[in-house]
Amino acid sequence: MKARAIIMAAGKGTRMKSRTPKVLHELCGRPMIEHVLDAVRGAGAEEIAAVVSEELRPAIEALGVRCIVQEPQNGTGHAMQLAMAVLSASNGQVLVASGDMPLVPASLLRDVTSARSASGAPAALVSARVPLPTNFGRIVRESGRVARIVENADASEIERAIDEVNTGIYCFDERALRYHLGRLKPDNKQGELYLTDCIASIVADKGSVEAVICGDSRLVMGVNNRVELAAARAVMQRRILDELMLSGVTVVDPSTTYVDAKVAAGNDTVVLPNTHLRGKTRIGAGCVIGPDSMLENAEVGDRAQIWYSIVRDSSIGAGVTVGPFAHIRMGAQVADDSRIGNFVELKKTIMGKGVKAHHLSYLGDAEIGAEANIGAGTITCNWDGKNKNKTKIGRKAFIGSNSSLVAPVTIGDEALTGAGSVVIRDVQAGERVAGNPAKPLKPKDK
Ligand code: UD1
Ligand code: CA
Repeated sequence: MKARAIIMAAGKGTRMKSRTPKVLHELCGRPMIEHVLDAVRGAGAEEIAAVVSEELRPAIEALGVRCIVQEPQNGTGHAMQLAMAVLSASNGQVLVASGDMPLVPASLLRDVTSARSASGAPAALVSARVPLPTNFGRIVRESGRVARIVENADASEIERAIDEVNTGIYCFDERALRYHLGRLKPDNKQGELYLTDCIASIVADKGSVEAVICGDSRLVMGVNNRVELAAARAVMQRRILDELMLSGVTVVDPSTTYVDAKVAAGNDTVVLPNTHLRGKTRIGAGCVIGPDSMLENAEVGDRAQIWYSIVRDSSIGAGVTVGPFAHIRMGAQVADDSRIGNFVELKKTIMGKGVKAHHLSYLGDAEIGAEANIGAGTITCNWDGKNKNKTKIGRKAFIGSNSSLVAPVTIGDEALTGAGSVVIRDVQAGERVAGNPAKPLKPKDK
């Protein structure tokens, strides 16, 4: 697509009634404007710039987008005037979209761009038919041709009955755009400069404006308040779930499954109800996830099962079972075939293959060797009031129920701690200790 793109996002978004700028409100794991950016990038825009408020600028620059600051915000026409003043002139075309339409597909942006270049018209826009009443600007046609756009607030009774609306997506010939922006006047209820007035200006100049009618008006839904945010989220959520299902994942109840935009899962994975898959979560094939689970930035290997549990910023190997009621967090890594059971918390713990921690444990800042057995109630006492300390548990070690491992401490390979041990010194490989404080068992005790 040969066009530069401008995303207008400086508006105050007053209808959100929020301290957060409107386009940073999140849906399906990303701020609204990132979905729009994806579409604009997906359409192949040559250069992207955003018109933003001073408040919004740092967040948008962090997304790698060139920002043009509009302060104060005096309407969409004013936003575009500022943008064009900053961008060096070219004789190409300019695609214009808003940061508040998160569902817009890249294909629609390409369509309006090719409609303009194919026709040679000074402008093309995307319109849609929507149920009335609506707050969208109306497309007024004369003899079937687009003549002007009238904002809902400025529309007459008869104009308000028009159900073809302006979606706010346009492609302009750049020279025509610069010229008509220069002629805008704030003759409207809000006293703002409306980009939409360029349309009548083009027509008055004997130019024509092409309309690409979008068949599915939900795709061009503008989000102006939190009711519309929830409606857009529902549409996007269903789109994400449909893609996941078509790629081979079973979603038992789409209405109670919440999956962010960038989540991936393998064939024959089953997602049970009330499950949230967030952030950069990646799940292998043949897993069972849920019910009632939350995975955020989780890596999960094939055939793992996670039920009634939370996994955040952590990885789970193949064939691992987690839950019910486990909490795995902060960079924990669980190797293949381990078992993390009821009420077990793992924080930053690196666990080897085939470890069993079935019941009621806190395992924080620990390294646990393959096939160790962690008895019910085992606690790594990692915090001494000043520092977080490490616990090392060797392979095939046997940690008796209710052991407290006071870190820093190392338990050797195949060592044993008796039930109720309070371990305050290192235990050698193969050694057996018990008691409070834990001491080596005498041969006769063995
Ligand atoms: C606008 C259109 C309307 C269309 C609707 C589609 C105008 C005058 N009206 O109305 O015809 O039906 O979009 O959703 O253009 N913005 C700025 N600077 C400003 C004002 C707005 O950057 O000074 C940005 C906003 O952040 C937003 C976009 O432009 O992303 C549209 O502004 P908004 O106030 O939402 O316009 P609508 O009333 O929805
Ligand atoms: Ca809007």
